[in-house]
Amino acid sequence: MLRTHTCGQLRLSDTGKSVTLSGWVQRSRDLGGMTFVDLRDRYGLTQLAFNMETNPELCLQARKLGREFVIAATGKVIERSSKNLKIPTGEIEIMVEKLEVLNASKVPPFTIEEETDGGEELRMRYRYLDLRRNPLRRNLELRHRMAIETRNYMDAQGFLEIETPFLIKSTPEGARDFVVPSRVHHGKFYALPQSPQTFKQILMVAGYDRYYQIVRCFRDEDLRADRQPEFTQIDCEMAFVTQEDILNTFEGLGRHLFKAIKGIDPGSFPRMSYADAMKYYGSDKPDIRFEMKFVELKDLLKNKGFSVFDFAELVVGICAEGCAEYSRKQLDDLTEFVKKPQIGAKGLVYIQYKPNGSLKSSVDKFYSPEDLQKVTEAFKAKPGDLILILAGDTYKTRKALNKLRLEMGSRLGLRNPEEFRPLWVLDFPLLEWDEETKRFYAMHHPFTSPKPEDIPLLDTDPRMVRANAYDLVINGVEIGGGSVRIHNKELQKKMFQILGFTDEDAQAQFGFLMNAFEYGAPPHGGIAFGFDRWVALFAGVDSIRDVIAFPKNNAGQDMMIDSPAEISGEQLKELGVRTVGL
Ligand code: AMO
Repeated sequence: MLRTHTCGQLRLSDTGKSVTLSGWVQRSRDLGGMTFVDLRDRYGLTQLAFNMETNPELCLQARKLGREFVIAATGKVIERSSKNLKIPTGEIEIMVEKLEVLNASKVPPFTIEEETDGGEELRMRYRYLDLRRNPLRRNLELRHRMAIETRNYMDAQGFLEIETPFLIKSTPEGARDFVVPSRVHHGKFYALPQSPQTFKQILMVAGYDRYYQIVRCFRDEDLRADRQPEFTQIDCEMAFVTQEDILNTFEGLGRHLFKAIKGIDPGSFPRMSYADAMKYYGSDKPDIRFEMKFVELKDLLKNKGFSVFDFAELVVGICAEGCAEYSRKQLDDLTEFVKKPQIGAKGLVYIQYKPNGSLKSSVDKFYSPEDLQKVTEAFKAKPGDLILILAGDTYKTRKALNKLRLEMGSRLGLRNPEEFRPLWVLDFPLLEWDEETKRFYAMHHPFTSPKPEDIPLLDTDPRMVRANAYDLVINGVEIGGGSVRIHNKELQKKMFQILGFTDEDAQAQFGFLMNAFEYGAPPHGGIAFGFDRWVALFAGVDSIRDVIAFPKNNAGQDMMIDSPAEISGEQLKELGVRTVGL
């Protein structure tokens, strides 16, 4: 028997038992008379003890064990004289009577403990070693639990988990496709799904009125901490439902996960329109763990000779509580922060509402104390608060102030990762105008239905059309998004026209869906959650890489298997693919 127990199992009540444990040597300490070895497996750590006096041969053997050797040790469970109450097995140790080396190990390139000295790249290259560490193990266990709890909830609600294909044709989620050349049909390519969107809609036409799938999606887009080229969605669709039914069903999933995983009841999720999210937070994914709402100030501050404000489309600010005493250096730092290219503001105006009630601002030249007082009233500011103001064109200024708000929230400790504030953002615009290509794009995707009352605007003012589309945002992270779909062929056709598709293009790309709509498509809608993002949020980590067993780095490479990689000329020939330079 290679083990009778795991390394996380034995307690004081097991004292006296004869056991065999197997695992990896995390550390060994030679104290002369005694040698101690920390033995690790995925369940925990147990101390092995070797006595030089009673068993010198075995003790010498133990001293030769290197880090990460795989061993099996048999012995008696005894009470430890110096207990380690930080670990569950810390009250006992195994007095080893027999030791077997199951496999030796090279010296690992970084320490495999709670904290490691290994850099990101090295740890990616040796992912199997990094995965032995507790933080990653905990994250993968959490991921597993969340998948199980998702399935429990969806099953109880009558959803069927149905798999959809990976080798498909382009789906329009807005990113580039990963493509796979066909060997049998030279010059033709499969695309890997950016999401199962069209298939889940077809399943609704087919009558499977509650579908879900925990499914891999593939998107060739710029990578960031919360984006991977392959990632996992909890993808869901329902038929014969209104937007309200969908929101309630998936709020239920959210609350179930909060309860089962975090032991929290977050209550019913508040809702906010897209328009309000942009106006008050400058973002379609506001972090509502803290207030610091935007206040628009143009009316109060115009026509006083300060041309920056007079000519700006928007003058807007936030109030940072208790920051009035910021030093010159701190204010200069904030100005530098907003001027960074990724923030993009030209400058920052501040008003310090001093604790003694006096007002000092960076624009005292233009505004009287009475003018500034009015601004403080607009914010309901108190003495001791600091008001920060940006000006410029509406979209850019809101975006920049959003970043400043988040920065101030972080500086003031208002973004506690253990506090969770979910939010539904509703009524997204249906379309987005792109100045570069001079055409409309679907803000969500082309199958999203306009609000019925806005349909006439499709002909007159398409920019103003709102969609039956919604996002679930938690702590400022977009966790999921979905919509009520178009289920009428004519409306779908019109949508493709607005998006600049010719009838032929639309037919060639999505004919299968539009044809299906002619055979009894029920009203339907759904949502997809970014599973990796949700796990990362619950795990309290910033990057989804930490909750994926084998992620890609920021350049889209898998450092362990060294992909993407070239393929042989033979393979290329067989696939009928010619590459430049070959
Ligand atoms: P959407 O494109 O909004 O909607 O995607 C749904 C959710 O998936 C997550 N997500 C990602 N996570 C990690 N890496 C990525 N590259 C990535 N891209 C997206 C986000 C996002 O909210 N078919 C529609 C859903 C629907 O309409 O039902 C869709 O895919 O958390």
